[in-house]
Amino acid sequence: MKVKASAPGKLMLFGEHAVVYGYPCIVTAVDKRLYVEAAISGKKEDEIISPQVKESRFVLESITHFKEKFAIQDSVKIETRGDFSHNVGLGSSSAVTVATFKALSSLFNKSLTLREIFDLSYQVTLEIQGLGSGFDIAAATFGGTLYFVAGGKTIEQLDGNKLSLVVGYSGVKADTPFYVRKVAENFKTRKSEIKNIFEKINNLVKLAKHGLLDKNYSRVGSLMNQNHKLLRKLGVSIPKLDEMVKASILAGAWGAKLSGAGGGDCMIALVPAEKKTSVEEAIKKVGGEIVDAINNAQGVRIEK
Ligand code: MEV
Repeated sequence: MKVKASAPGKLMLFGEHAVVYGYPCIVTAVDKRLYVEAAISGKKEDEIISPQVKESRFVLESITHFKEKFAIQDSVKIETRGDFSHNVGLGSSSAVTVATFKALSSLFNKSLTLREIFDLSYQVTLEIQGLGSGFDIAAATFGGTLYFVAGGKTIEQLDGNKLSLVVGYSGVKADTPFYVRKVAENFKTRKSEIKNIFEKINNLVKLAKHGLLDKNYSRVGSLMNQNHKLLRKLGVSIPKLDEMVKASILAGAWGAKLSGAGGGDCMIALVPAEKKTSVEEAIKKVGGEIVDAINNAQGVRIEK
């Protein structure tokens, strides 16, 4: 018997970095998914076929945790496939971890609640990466658009809607741990200044939550611009992302910001529908690549 599960990638809408320090963020799941097929193998060792090498550690650790929890002896064969490459920063490691737990729980007929899947997956990613708020795990597990506090202290579904977003890939792979450490260093040496930036981001996140619930997109866009400026002050943006953000605004976006750790990966722009094409063109003109992604996607699920 074979079981297939999938989990979505994510985009950070507001609050990156500050979320690592206990402040809230807003994350949305996207319709680019990671698929995990699981079967009992009959072999001595577990077998993982994961073309994206980075992911096999996450799959391996998830299998170990799952087998330990349910005292399972059988070996399994896992195959993974993604709608997206791990280069773009949409969260393939988190999605594959979450989807592995879901596939195994179905294969062995062991019930795991979404909260349990979140907790187990967060543990796996912390063991491998040693850091992270878990916002990406939450998006992969619960889907939708979430108001999230580190470790899952708060996970609130924001009755999200499909946003008119343009996603631009900078062409540079971000080194998330490097940027998280960089902010941590600055937090040590310039504590009050950095704390002040986090407080301002915190304020934006709260306003953005209401803006999203009220569907006041011009307001949300303006909050994005402010969030991007604060991320620049934190020292996590790069000229390419700044250019893409600026080009989007000049082309008529309500607002734009980098999304994620910074240093590369993607930026997002919130745009009036009639400006979508011109914003996309503007991003391409400064060297960005458009990533086709629709937000507010469904969380982890079993695929037929
Ligand atoms: C990385 O995409 C977002 C950070 O806030 C780290 C995290 O929350 O785990 C920088």
